[in-house]
Amino acid sequence: MAPTVRSNPLRDPRDRRLPRLPDASALVVFGATGDLARKKLIPAVYDLFNRGLLPPGFVLLGFARRDWSDGDFADFARESAEKGARTPFREEVWDRLAGSVRFLQGSFDDDAAFDRLASTLEDLERSHGIGGNAAFYLSIQPSAFPVVLKQMQRTGLSSAANSGGWRRVVIEKPFGHDLASARDLNALVDDVFTPSGVYRIDHYLGKETVQNLFALRFANNLYEPIWNSQFVDSVQITMAEDVGIGTRAGFYDETGAARDVLQNHLLQLLALTAMEEPVSFGPETIRTEKLKVLRAVSLPADLARFAVRGQYEQGWLAGERVPGYLDEKDIPPDSRTETFAAVRLGIETRRWAGVPFYLRTGKRLPRRVTEIAIVFKKAPHLPFDQTDTAELGNNQLVIRVQPDEGVTLKFGSKVPGSAMEVRDVAMDFLFGEAFTEASPEAYERLILDVLLGDATLFPNNAEVEESWRIIDPLEEYWASTTPHRYRAGSWGPAAADEMLAADGRRWRRP
Ligand SMILES: NC(=O)c1ccc[n+]([C@@H]2O[C@H](COP(=O)([O-])OP(=O)(O)OC[C@H]3O[C@@H](n4cnc5c(N)ncnc54)[C@H](OP(=O)(O)O)[C@@H]3O)[C@@H](O)[C@H]2O)c1
Repeated sequence: MAPTVRSNPLRDPRDRRLPRLPDASALVVFGATGDLARKKLIPAVYDLFNRGLLPPGFVLLGFARRDWSDGDFADFARESAEKGARTPFREEVWDRLAGSVRFLQGSFDDDAAFDRLASTLEDLERSHGIGGNAAFYLSIQPSAFPVVLKQMQRTGLSSAANSGGWRRVVIEKPFGHDLASARDLNALVDDVFTPSGVYRIDHYLGKETVQNLFALRFANNLYEPIWNSQFVDSVQITMAEDVGIGTRAGFYDETGAARDVLQNHLLQLLALTAMEEPVSFGPETIRTEKLKVLRAVSLPADLARFAVRGQYEQGWLAGERVPGYLDEKDIPPDSRTETFAAVRLGIETRRWAGVPFYLRTGKRLPRRVTEIAIVFKKAPHLPFDQTDTAELGNNQLVIRVQPDEGVTLKFGSKVPGSAMEVRDVAMDFLFGEAFTEASPEAYERLILDVLLGDATLFPNNAEVEESWRIIDPLEEYWASTTPHRYRAGSWGPAAADEMLAADGRRWRRP
């Protein structure tokens, strides 16, 4: 009898746990010599290569103005990988990757440079077998998007039909600075690339902890029944930074905290927290559910009370004296740009009616932390003496996005002893302790997804526009106000505390 051939379940091609390799392709980075490329993109490419997740025919092609050779760019890439990579830097890995690093010198308004880019990609088809596949990463100032997109249209670089492979474009935030400009940008991008080839990066969605929200909510049976206005008192979403504006004064002063963080990262976190279960785990189904939430978001009628912005003054952080925003280099002394923004939003659905979502972000706050806190209502009846539960707060489920990635459940427990005294305790889950595998960097995950053609973690046009619909009236209102002041190293202006106090609540101190 012929021996039975057992199939290895780990080799089942439908098994999504197996790593998938993208097609041979070129990753063209416009702005390859810039800050983002150096700090994030190139290290992420190295990490992916080191993990064996890039195909043999992969090419990293940098495009920028400075007069560099392939070798100069490879040196720059090596240094940024050595400094910024998450996985260990290994000489033999780098040597293999270095053979696939190219540089093309040119300015965005230079037709000849884009013609050279088109012919370089054709050459790479022959030398590396990239089969016409290319992803174009726009790691450049947003004002340059139109000229670069038009150049790609003119040269046919954006056309998959022309190339015989796939063509994708990756766009960094900010996606416009208001609804009107976002619509213009979306129209332009959709005119040049097919919508399914457009990837808007909100790097928060690349974070493991953010994706864990899907697992927490939809893979468990425990939370979903209480994930609604019947049990939830309020939700607090915080993204705090201890740093100031660094070297990006020009960009920041034009943008401010609400456009920089609230419009994208915080609203995406809100959408993931509040969305309904998608019918399946695919890009369209997830985006549909997120969009429904964003469409249902309402601003408070009394913006003066429930939308607060602030600007940091000099103060102390980690034992060091730090300057105020107006004393930062290249910031106009009369700037009214906010470095802190907080707002109370509602979600007008049956699930969330009456539950306030408090969002806040700020620079020069006491520490770097991003978290989503679900604050539950108190038990409807407490069969104890009032003094027994004097120290008992609301139950809370806190999703720690960064750092100390994990989840904390805060609940009441009896204090050991003869009396019945109930006090808050915490149960902690830490990614770093529960798993041996370290979490990939957000950019690692997102670049790989672009090359694989998986758009699940990328917001689409409609989400971006809907987010501006929420932010525009806030910006309009704030335009006529002066930001409150707050001391660097504090948790923001007093008005932000008063905003919650007016509702009988307090901000968490993460
Ligand atoms: N930096 C961050 O941490 C960060 C975070 C989130 C999002 N972003 C977004 O990422 C994008 C890039 O930011 P960045 O901080 O990396 O900017 P950056 O440091 O100013 O780099 C800009 C890059 O664009 C190139 N460039 C500028 N004008 C050019 C032209 N006319 N022709 C050809 N190349 C030109 C520069 O090359 P040369 O100097 O060689 O000319 C440089 O490589 C922006 O959209 C930003 O909003 C950045």
